Amino acid sequence: MQILVTGGAGFIGGNISQQLVAQGHDVTVVDMMHPYYDLSIKRHTIEACRETATGSDGSYEFVEGDVRDEATVETLVGEAEFIYHQAGRAGVRDSVAEPRVYDEVNVEGTLNILDTARENDVKRIVYASSSSVYGKPEYLPYDEQHPTTPVSPYGASKLAAERYGCSYSEVYDLSFVALRYFTVYGPRMRPNMAITNFVSRCMNGESPVIYGDGTQTRDFTYIDDVVSANLALLETDVADGEAVNIGSTDNIEIRELAGAIRDEVDPELEFEFDDRHAADAEHTHASVDRARDRLDYEPTYDIREGVAQFIDWYRANREWYEPLVRAS
Ligand SMILES: NC(=O)c1ccc[n+]([C@@H]2O[C@H](COP(=O)([O-])OP(=O)(O)OC[C@H]3O[C@@H](n4cnc5c(N)ncnc54)[C@H](O)[C@@H]3O)[C@@H](O)[C@H]2O)c1
Repeated sequence: MQILVTGGAGFIGGNISQQLVAQGHDVTVVDMMHPYYDLSIKRHTIEACRETATGSDGSYEFVEGDVRDEATVETLVGEAEFIYHQAGRAGVRDSVAEPRVYDEVNVEGTLNILDTARENDVKRIVYASSSSVYGKPEYLPYDEQHPTTPVSPYGASKLAAERYGCSYSEVYDLSFVALRYFTVYGPRMRPNMAITNFVSRCMNGESPVIYGDGTQTRDFTYIDDVVSANLALLETDVADGEAVNIGSTDNIEIRELAGAIRDEVDPELEFEFDDRHAADAEHTHASVDRARDRLDYEPTYDIREGVAQFIDWYRANREWYEPLVRAS
C-alpha cells in the first residue's frame, strides 16, 4: 500500500515508517525537519528507514516539507492511500511560550491534511493524539469518556485537531482514528523527555533531575506497542471516528522511575530537584479497554522492562546518540 507518514523523521513517525517499510509497504515521509532537538537524530532515523527498504519489498521516500504548506500537502496526499499523521509540535512547556505556532502546526496543518484527504481516495487517516487532551483527572485511569479539559496549549491543540478529524469522519466519507498516546519512549526517542534525561545524566555520573517532588505519576508506553497499535489499524475498519487510548496500563511515580534508572546505571547517585511547571500533567494513567476491544491491543512492556530495554539500546548506540541528546 502507498502510505504517507507525516512527521516521519521524528521519533514515533520514524519507528512507524521503518516497520511499514519492513512489511513491504511503499512509504513516503514528509517532515519539515524542525530543529527543536538535534536534527542528526532525525537523519539517523531516515537512514535506518532507507536501509530497511534495501532489504525489503517496500520502498521509502523522504520529502522535506511542511504540513502547513497547502501545495506540498495536496501533492503528497493526492498520491497516498493511507495516512499516518504524526507531524506536530510536541512538548507541553514550549506550547506555553508559543501557543500560536502550536495552533498553526497541530490544528491548521491537520486541517490541510483532512481537507485534501476528503477530496482524494484516502482509505484512512490515523492521527497522533495525546493523553494531554484529558487535563486534570476526575478519576483514573482515564477512559475515553473522561472529560477533556486540557491544561496546556499543546493539549488544546491536540484535542482541536482530533475533534476536527472525528467530525470530518461524521460529515464526510473519511475514515479517521485518533490514537491518544500516553508518554512514549524507546530507541531514537526525543532527547528532552524525562527518561532520556535520567538515562543520559546517570550514564555520565550526574544526578537525575526531578521536577517537583517526583510524586507525579506517568503511564509510559514503549514504542513497539505504539507501532503495533498503529499497524493494527491498517488491517481493520474498526474505530472509525473514535479516539482510542494507547498506554501501558501501568503507571509509576517519576521519583520511582528515576530511582530504577539510577539503580541500573549508577546506584551511588543522589537525586536533584527543580521546580515543576504548571502545564505539566500531575498524573496520567490509561485504560486501554477500548484499544483491546477495537484493535486487540495488549501492551507487551511494563515500564521496568521497557526502560531496561532502552538502557541497553542507549548503551549500544551511545557513540552517536549521546552527544546529540546532550547537545539538545
Ligand atoms: N512522544 C510522546 O510521548 C507523544 C505523546 C503523545 C502524543 N505525541 C504526538 O505524536 C506525534 C509524534 O511525536 P514524537 O514524539 O515522535 O515527536 P517528534 O518531534 O520526534 O516528531 C514530530 C515530527 O514532526 C515534524 N514536524 C513538526 N512540525 C512540522 C510541520 N509543520 N510539517 C511537517 N513536519 C513537522 C518534526 O520535524 C518532527 O520530526 C506528535 O504529533 C506528538 O504530538 C507524542
